[in-house]
Amino acid sequence: YDYDLLVVGSANADLVIGVERRPAAGETVLGGDLAVHPGGKGGNQAVAAARLGARTALLARVGDDAHGRLLLDAQRAAGVDTAGVRVGGAPTGVALITVDPSGDNSIVVSPGANARLTPADVRSAAGLVRAARVVSAQLEIPLETVVEVVRTLSPDGRFVLNPSPPRPLPDEVLALCDPLIVNEHEARVLLGGACEGDDPADWARLLLARGPRSVVVTLGAAGALVCDGSGVNRVPAPKVDAVDTTGAGDAFTAALAVGLGSGAPLADAAAHAVRVGAAAVTRRGAQESYPTLAEVESL
Ligand code: RIB
Ligand code: NA
Repeated sequence: YDYDLLVVGSANADLVIGVERRPAAGETVLGGDLAVHPGGKGGNQAVAAARLGARTALLARVGDDAHGRLLLDAQRAAGVDTAGVRVGGAPTGVALITVDPSGDNSIVVSPGANARLTPADVRSAAGLVRAARVVSAQLEIPLETVVEVVRTLSPDGRFVLNPSPPRPLPDEVLALCDPLIVNEHEARVLLGGACEGDDPADWARLLLARGPRSVVVTLGAAGALVCDGSGVNRVPAPKVDAVDTTGAGDAFTAALAVGLGSGAPLADAAAHAVRVGAAAVTRRGAQESYPTLAEVESL
């Protein structure tokens, strides 16, 4: 394999404003100064993996504009191979993000060029898809593009999916997820009416019954649950002071994918990934907050 990880997904310019609290409908609140950060769940995963030392490539689409150049520069600076990034067709994706004093965020995404990453783009990058030990995706790009990814995977290639933002998944995609990685909100949406009770371990089992080879439920500061044929295991998180949780889930997913690609068992890869995610919440922004391996070890 030429790459440890190929990320197929979104790249957004994150326009971030700190607020005391979020406005209600019809209300205006004043926030802090605007910060523009490179983001997008796909771009974030790629940078997180490269920071950890993985040979990483990104298949994405940005606009032919200043935001697109900012995002490409950030990827290259982190050491990500951007030969698979298509340029043009629509403005670069944008995420409007508010961060409150507890570090929690709310996000509205305008997909822009991300919505124009097509199955044809995947077909024309089939060599790249097959050159990666692990391929990861999220859902800020069209679902049919993700379907094309699973159809293109090499027979022994591993597929990791964070279905965010969540929507119903075809069986063909579910069957290849190893793992399917969801937070509590995503688990509830995917399970719909079947999501009875409040025990995430039950959600993990119910999701596993839908067909993926394994499931991970992320629980924020409480760590994560991993679930495969051998049952559900809890992975605790180190205690840290959260400054900005934006993109912490993307760092978790990237670290998990890289760990699995290097042969680690699911629970071990998740234990490492939880620490990477914890390091990421201690600093502002998404990509700029991602740790190197040495920083994770010193946590
Ligand atoms: O997961 C965090 C990311 O979600 C942000 O970087 C933003 O771009 C949105 O895609
Ligand atoms: Na952060």
